[in-house]
Amino acid sequence: MKVLVIGGGAREHALCRSLSLDPDVSALYCAPGNAGIAEVAELRPVDALDGAAVAALAVELGAGLVVVGPEAPLVAGVADAVRAAGIPVFGPSAEAAQLEGSKAFAKDVMAAAGVPTARSYVCTTAEEVDAALDAFGAPYVVKDDGLAAGKGVVVTEDRAAARDHALACDRVVIEEYLDGPEVSLFAITDGVTVLPLQPAQDFKRALDGDQGPNTGGMGAYSPLPWADPKLVDEVMELVLQPTVDELRHRGTPFSGLLYAGLAITSRGTRVIEFNARFGDPETQVVLARLRTPLAGVLLNAANGTLHSLPALNWSDDAAVTVVIASHNYPDTPRTGDPIEGLGDVAAQDAPDAYVLHAGTRREGDAVVSAGGRVLSVTATGSDLAQAREKAYKAVGRIKLDGSQHRTDIAAKAAEGR
Ligand code: AMP
Ligand code: GLY
Repeated sequence: MKVLVIGGGAREHALCRSLSLDPDVSALYCAPGNAGIAEVAELRPVDALDGAAVAALAVELGAGLVVVGPEAPLVAGVADAVRAAGIPVFGPSAEAAQLEGSKAFAKDVMAAAGVPTARSYVCTTAEEVDAALDAFGAPYVVKDDGLAAGKGVVVTEDRAAARDHALACDRVVIEEYLDGPEVSLFAITDGVTVLPLQPAQDFKRALDGDQGPNTGGMGAYSPLPWADPKLVDEVMELVLQPTVDELRHRGTPFSGLLYAGLAITSRGTRVIEFNARFGDPETQVVLARLRTPLAGVLLNAANGTLHSLPALNWSDDAAVTVVIASHNYPDTPRTGDPIEGLGDVAAQDAPDAYVLHAGTRREGDAVVSAGGRVLSVTATGSDLAQAREKAYKAVGRIKLDGSQHRTDIAAKAAEGR
C-alpha cells in the first residue's frame, strides 16, 4: 500500500517512522515534511490546507491511504476532499473536526452525551463575560472558541487579564478550573468502533517545574505508572464511546484520531479538551510503544472496518521524548541555526534512542532549525528511569546554538511520585 502523510512536524515524523517500519507499506510520501522525514519518506510540496491540491496529489501518487496530521487541514475539510476523490483517509470530516475547531461545539456534544467536563458558559458580550468570571471565581479559565494553535487558553488568578483575553475574542468559553494531573488518551475510531491507545502525559510549560509560558509541548512519557489501571476502561465508557456515538447520531460521524485531554480531579476524571488528531509530543511516545503495524490500523479506521481488528499489541517498554526548542521559543523563536550531532545519536544511541524532527530543513549539507520546536528526542527503556537516561544522553549529543529543553521530563513519574 502507498501511504501519503500530510504535515511536517515531529508527530508526522513519528507517524512516518512507524509507517516506514510496516511491511505492508510499499511507498511512503509526506507533504510537506521536513529534513528528518525526508530520510524515511519521499517529500512532496503541497499546500496542506488546499483539499483539492492534496486530493490531486493523492490521486497522482496512487495512494491507498492518506493520513492527515494537523488540525488546520482537518478543520479546512482536507479529509473530505480526499474522501470525495475515492481515497481512504485517516482523519475526520470538517464537520466532525469541529470537536477541536470550536470549544463551544465540543461543550455542546459533551453535554448531549453526558460526558464529564468543566461547567462552562459561552459568552459573546462584556456583560456575559463578567457574569461568568464572577460565577466561577479564580483561577479563571478563558478559552477562545476557535482554533488558536495553543494560544487561545488563558488560565490566571488575575481577573483583569482574564477579562482582557475574553474581550479580545469574538466568542469565548469561560469555565470552571479543574485541578489535578493531566492525561492525554488517544483513541482510533471509524465512527462506530473505538480503539483506545495507551495514555501519555505531556509537559506544556516551557521551563522545569512547570514554570514559564505555555507551549505546544516540551516533552512526554508513557506509560503512567501513577495512574489507576482502570483509567482507560473508565474513559472509554464515560468519554470516548459516548462522544463517538453522539457524533454519529448527529449525522456527522467522527473517524480518525479522537484525543481526550483529561484532568484527574478529586471529584473524578473530567475532559479539558478534545482534539481531532494525534497529539504532539504524546504521539512520539505512544507510537514508540505500539507493536501492531500502524498502516493496517489506520486503513481499517478509514474504511469503517475497525471491528475486524484483533486487539492492539503494546510493548512493556517505557518511552520518553524531550523537545529541543529554538532560542526565544515560544515568543519569537530564532530559526536558521545549524543542528549538529544528529549523526552521533544515530551511530551511538540507536535503536533505543532516536531523533524525530519538528521544525527543521536542509540547507546544502546542513540541517538547520526552521521552527519553535526543532527536535523531539525519543527513547525507550525497560522503565521510565532508563528511557529518561537514554533520551537525555542523546539530547546531550545535539548542538543547536541558543536552544532550550526541559531537564525534568518524566522525572517525578520515574521516581514513583
Ligand atoms: P487547551 O488548549 O484546551 O488544551 O488548554 C490548554 C491548557 O490549559 C490545558 O492543557 C490545561 O493545562 C489548561 N486548562 C484548560 N482548561 C482548564 C481548566 N478548566 N482548568 C484548569 N486548567 C485548564
Ligand atoms: N500535546 C498537546 C497537543 O497536541 O495539543
